[in-house]
Amino acid sequence: MSSVMQPLKDEHRELLPHIEFLREAGVLVEASSEQEVLRAAEDAHEFLVHHLIPHAIGEDRVLYPVVERLMGAPGATATMSRDHVEVGKLTEELGALKDKIAQSGATETGLTELQRVLFGLYGIVKLHFDKEEEIYVPILEKGLSSKEATEMFAEMEKAAGEAKAAAHA
Ligand SMILES: [Fe+2]
Ligand SMILES: [Fe+2]
Repeated sequence: MSSVMQPLKDEHRELLPHIEFLREAGVLVEASSEQEVLRAAEDAHEFLVHHLIPHAIGEDRVLYPVVERLMGAPGATATMSRDHVEVGKLTEELGALKDKIAQSGATETGLTELQRVLFGLYGIVKLHFDKEEEIYVPILEKGLSSKEATEMFAEMEKAAGEAKAAAHA
């Protein structure tokens, strides 16, 4: 059955292999050369900054306010926006850790920290996606006409596009 929320499900489906990669990169930290670890950390960081965070910004600006309106519960999505904030913080940590490895090589502490950050991101983002799909998608499917959903996704794409452009600047 087609759903007015298919664009969000499709976007999540595209992002999911990269979320799995966060976990794989975390495992890799223990078993790979410094160069491979660094490359995985760089790939994970680039995905977060240029794809996942713009997606989250689109949700914060457009999707979550719609969820709150449909629930009749202002502030209801604040806990989910807080997940986005945590992803931003951990992404910054990941950036600093990978820069340090690139500049002065990996220390044992640096690698342990890197693994903590990658597994942390994986756990938070995976559960966050499940919450959106299992709790918000049914609310939106019930409450939005296909015209409203189309308009919402156009706005979301615009907000995410602006965020992507800003990340490239
Ligand atoms: Fe989200
Ligand atoms: Fe999402």
